[in-house]
Amino acid sequence: MKLSVNDLNFSYADKNVLKDLSFAVEEGEFVSILGPSGCGKSTLLNVLAGILRPQGGRILIDGIAVNGMYSQFAYMPQNDLLFPWRTILDNVCLYGEIHHQKEEARRRAQEQMDRFGLAGCGDKYPGELSGGMRQRAAFLRTALCDAQIYLLDEPFGALDVITRGDMQDWLRELCGNLKKTILLVTHDTDEAIYLSDRILIFGAPGEGIRREFTVTEQNRTREWLYEQGALRAEIYRVIKAQ
Ligand SMILES: Nc1ncnc2c1ncn2[C@@H]1O[C@H](COP(=O)(O)OP(=O)(O)O)[C@@H](O)[C@H]1O
Ligand SMILES: [Mg+2]
Repeated sequence: MKLSVNDLNFSYADKNVLKDLSFAVEEGEFVSILGPSGCGKSTLLNVLAGILRPQGGRILIDGIAVNGMYSQFAYMPQNDLLFPWRTILDNVCLYGEIHHQKEEARRRAQEQMDRFGLAGCGDKYPGELSGGMRQRAAFLRTALCDAQIYLLDEPFGALDVITRGDMQDWLRELCGNLKKTILLVTHDTDEAIYLSDRILIFGAPGEGIRREFTVTEQNRTREWLYEQGALRAEIYRVIKAQ
């Protein structure tokens, strides 16, 4: 499914954060957003997910305007938002439970717990896990949604470098094999280069997209990533520019 954002506007009481913002993410495309902290990345995802109401502009899925919450969005907010009174397995299966497919959701979750480094954690409560494990549980919960469009807000920020790499590979498969449309907010330039078809660099609040980079390499490996020094430097320069 294609996501289009047309002239989107959003202000908090005293602060204009999104101003006439327009961009699109094609079906099966992986787009990352990089930008300084406070530029409005989380606000944008909250508006897309229907948690904040836009004050102007339109959000379109396959050309049709959507208003408020939309079932084809799987949203992972910046904070893990696990329910502290539910076990990890019950948190991860929330979506299936809401849709009356609890048993199926538990089976699918059990299959993935290992891969997500959560083996043996199903019966634990969020308060008993490290920040990185909670983030992985929140990611698994999002990944198990049957939505077509994923909105991910710094999903791997709290992870160690090895686990982050595993999760990135998992996400790449999701986009490649299942043709999911993915919009990822990250502060990690390498993560954006490794995963994205396109990288949008946001400027100051209200400035919107300062520059866009396209990454065309089909055969990506960690070795390939290490060789992207020129692109990495250029992205850094654009983010830093006033
Ligand atoms: N609930 C809020 N009320 C007022 N201002 C907010 C609120 N949430 C965020 N802001 C401000 O809006 C700007 C954008 O915030 P945010 O979207 O969280 O940025 P980012 O995710 O890019 O770091 C920041 O300056 C932030 O302080
Ligand atoms: Mg944020």
